[in-house]
Amino acid sequence: MKRVLSIAVVVLMIFSAMNMFAGGQKESAKDGTIVIGANIYSFADNFMNGVMKPELERYAKEKGAKIEIVDSEGQQAKLNDQVDVFITKKVSVLAINLVDPAAAGTIIAKAKAAKIPLILFNKEATEAGAMASYDKVWYVGTNSAESGIIQGQMMVADWKANPSWDKNGDGTVQYVLLKGEPGHPDAEARTRESVKAFVDAGIKVEQLALEADPNWSTQHGNDKMAAWLTSGFGNKIELVICNNDGMAFGAINALKAAKVALPLYGVDALDQALTHIADGEMNGTVLNDGVNQSRATLDLAINAAQGKPVTEGTAWSLTSDGTKAVRVPYLPVTPKNYKEFRK
Ligand code: BGC
Ligand code: CA
Repeated sequence: MKRVLSIAVVVLMIFSAMNMFAGGQKESAKDGTIVIGANIYSFADNFMNGVMKPELERYAKEKGAKIEIVDSEGQQAKLNDQVDVFITKKVSVLAINLVDPAAAGTIIAKAKAAKIPLILFNKEATEAGAMASYDKVWYVGTNSAESGIIQGQMMVADWKANPSWDKNGDGTVQYVLLKGEPGHPDAEARTRESVKAFVDAGIKVEQLALEADPNWSTQHGNDKMAAWLTSGFGNKIELVICNNDGMAFGAINALKAAKVALPLYGVDALDQALTHIADGEMNGTVLNDGVNQSRATLDLAINAAQGKPVTEGTAWSLTSDGTKAVRVPYLPVTPKNYKEFRK
């Protein structure tokens, strides 16, 4: 009897060792390297492709991790399939830039079913309860409202300092606004907060036009600005508010082509924006620190893949508001300080 029992114990031990081995294989490539399955919602996006993607690649290398970054081409259905492929390949961890922030639940459910940790970055989930539905999902991004508040404060200060900007002298800011992706927390918060800064400062505002673009693109900025300039209200525009630099670049092109100069602001602080500020074609932007957002994404991903507390040994901390998020601060970039942001 004793013997039968001890054989049973040995068999059990062998089985659990085999299980551990299988589990261990899932966590990493055969040589122990952490494999990160990542995407960018669209490689056509200036900020994502120009700032975040190169740093994700560079920093993964520095950390000795392997990263595969795929292009979701602005299609959530495509991203869903890409995540399925990553899961089949048994990546150690997922780093996902949602296409549709309202589709977070689908991705989280996939990761949870496969028991793979998930870091969402740049586009915060908008579905209530999505983040709470899995204990191994976290978010890396910003506090969206902060960018609008900073941009708004810059615009208010400049408006007050430049009475000639009120072209028709009615004490009201006649503005046009390039919004970016409808439903994107950054686009929504920037639109709300930048305009609110004027209202809070006791300055009246009149929106002449607002256009959204899911791709936040330069082409869109160019086309809309050109159309606005030749519209019935073209000569009434006193301020151009752009929710990102990519669209601002297009608006600047259109203004130059029409030989019109208008105060214009963006968000992101891309290198080209710093040049436009130097050339007096842009009045300000807001640093969206994609380099640090990329690093935080990977630091959390690597810890999560190893089953460690996600911020352990890193420069980051999770917000205390229960959103399981690391939020990298925004900074104002003006004609006075833009040189500090040059690389
Ligand atoms: C950036 C935009 C970018 C968007 C993509 C925002 O945080 O400011 O430039 O297009 O993220 O999701
Ligand atoms: Ca006016």
